[in-house]
Amino acid sequence: MYFAKLATLAAVLSLGVAAQSGNKTIVELALGTSEVSSLVKVLTSSPQYALIIQALNNTGNFTLFAPNNAAFAAAMDLTNILLYHASAAGAIASTDLMDGANVINSLATNTTVDNFGMNSGLPLDVVKNSNGVFVNYGLGNATVVTPDVKASNGIIHIIDKVLMLPMKPSATAKAANLTSLVSAVMATNLTDAIDSTQGITIFAPTNAAFATANAGSLSNSAVANILKYHVVPGDKINVSYTGGMVMVNNATVVMADVLTNNGVVHVIDQVLIPQDNSTMASASGSAKASGSGASAGNTLKVSIASMVIAGVVAGLMA
Ligand SMILES: *[C@@H]1O[C@H](CO)[C@@H](O)[C@H](O)[C@H]1NC(C)=O
Ligand SMILES: *[C@@H]1O[C@H](CO)[C@@H](O)[C@H](O)[C@H]1NC(C)=O
Ligand SMILES: *[C@@H]1O[C@H](CO)[C@@H](O)[C@H](O)[C@H]1NC(C)=O
Ligand SMILES: *[C@@H]1O[C@H](CO)[C@@H](O)[C@H](O)[C@H]1NC(C)=O
Ligand SMILES: *[C@@H]1O[C@H](CO)[C@@H](O)[C@H](O)[C@H]1NC(C)=O
Ligand SMILES: *[C@@H]1O[C@H](CO)[C@@H](O)[C@H](O)[C@H]1NC(C)=O
Ligand SMILES: *[C@@H]1O[C@H](CO)[C@@H](O)[C@H](O)[C@H]1NC(C)=O
Ligand SMILES: *[C@@H]1O[C@H](CO)[C@@H](O)[C@H](O)[C@H]1NC(C)=O
Ligand SMILES: *[C@@H]1O[C@H](CO)[C@@H](O)[C@H](O)[C@H]1NC(C)=O
Ligand SMILES: *[C@@H]1O[C@H](CO)[C@@H](O)[C@H](O)[C@H]1NC(C)=O
Repeated sequence: MYFAKLATLAAVLSLGVAAQSGNKTIVELALGTSEVSSLVKVLTSSPQYALIIQALNNTGNFTLFAPNNAAFAAAMDLTNILLYHASAAGAIASTDLMDGANVINSLATNTTVDNFGMNSGLPLDVVKNSNGVFVNYGLGNATVVTPDVKASNGIIHIIDKVLMLPMKPSATAKAANLTSLVSAVMATNLTDAIDSTQGITIFAPTNAAFATANAGSLSNSAVANILKYHVVPGDKINVSYTGGMVMVNNATVVMADVLTNNGVVHVIDQVLIPQDNSTMASASGSAKASGSGASAGNTLKVSIASMVIAGVVAGLMA
């Protein structure tokens, strides 16, 4: 049983070692596995981890979930993560925040993590509503638990989570379970183009929207054109407000302001069909806010999109 469990562990970790390595302890196995060398490096870097090593090198039946090197690199990118928590945009008190979304540029300007292309720092999306103040990062958000701790040179808001760096659009869509969108983008070979384009707004249809649109019956080039229409808003895309909801053409935004490392995603409930696909290749990309019912909270949501759209690299449509 002991050996069987270790063998299972080895398989789970894709350690690529033969089953007889079940003779080794978890520690001995991990030490010889290059894919988890970052974990090993940390565990062996300081005497404070000796107890963990000792425990896992003991007789017994243990299970270890071992982050591989890529996972460790993402979590341990502490310099960029910490820079993402700070801003030089002034001492912004909670009373300075508008209701709704507030875009604040962070100190994270490393282009590996800030692919907005504006050299102004990966944006933070600080949301103030009747429930409190939240800091959105990708699909997650942290809650401000202690606001407005004043310092001589600024202000601290204490939050309950570490803000993880927003991911590429493809990884974000995958994490959001937008499987139809991910498949369509892959099938049309647009993944790299979308991930690498700086400063974009993506309207991401839900799985149900794709099912309704019956996109599976279209040719790849037709699907590619439809997808591009969702990435670079042309003059045929309207962002408007109706009864407090954010609309894009006829679609409703069901999840707004999901940050990626190169822009923002708004999840919508319908696939947007270009009215005249012959004009799409020359669409210059400007989302016009319309509708007089825009609340203060919604105003900035458009400005996020506008800000992002301002930096659109039109080449994606070519
Ligand atoms: C593992 O242990 C078994 C006996 O329990 C032995 O037959 C086998 O040779 C050992 N394998 C290695 C790689 O040490
Ligand atoms: C793990 O335990 C074995 C004995 O079972 C010992 O030889 C080895 O040095 C230990 N390794 C570590 C890293 O503590
Ligand atoms: C490991 O589990 C097996 C079966 O579950 C058990 O027989 C064995 O005693 C356990 N070993 C230790 C060291 O707890
Ligand atoms: C940017 O961040 C990446 C990932 O952490 C790092 O490898 C690289 O050295 C950083 N570049 C600079 C200029 O700091
Ligand atoms: C923050 O996340 C919680 C769930 O974890 C959600 O209920 C809440 O609406 C989110 N707040 C914002 C402003 O996105
Ligand atoms: C993800 O989408 C699939 C297909 O629509 C659905 O079956 C599944 O329940 C979804 N999973 C989550 C966690 O939302
Ligand atoms: C896929 O797109 C990349 C650019 O993103 C391009 O270099 C490559 O040739 C394309 N592959 C196919 C099969 O179209
Ligand atoms: C444009 O749309 C029509 C249907 O409206 C379709 O038949 C045609 O393939 C599309 N053209 C391109 C280049 O996708
Ligand atoms: C955009 O909004 C205007 C005014 O509300 C409307 O007349 C027009 O039909 C809309 N266009 C699309 C593509 O939805
Ligand atoms: C919006 O819906 C109306 C009514 O179903 C339809 O006539 C119109 O073409 C749709 N507009 C767009 C841009 O899809």
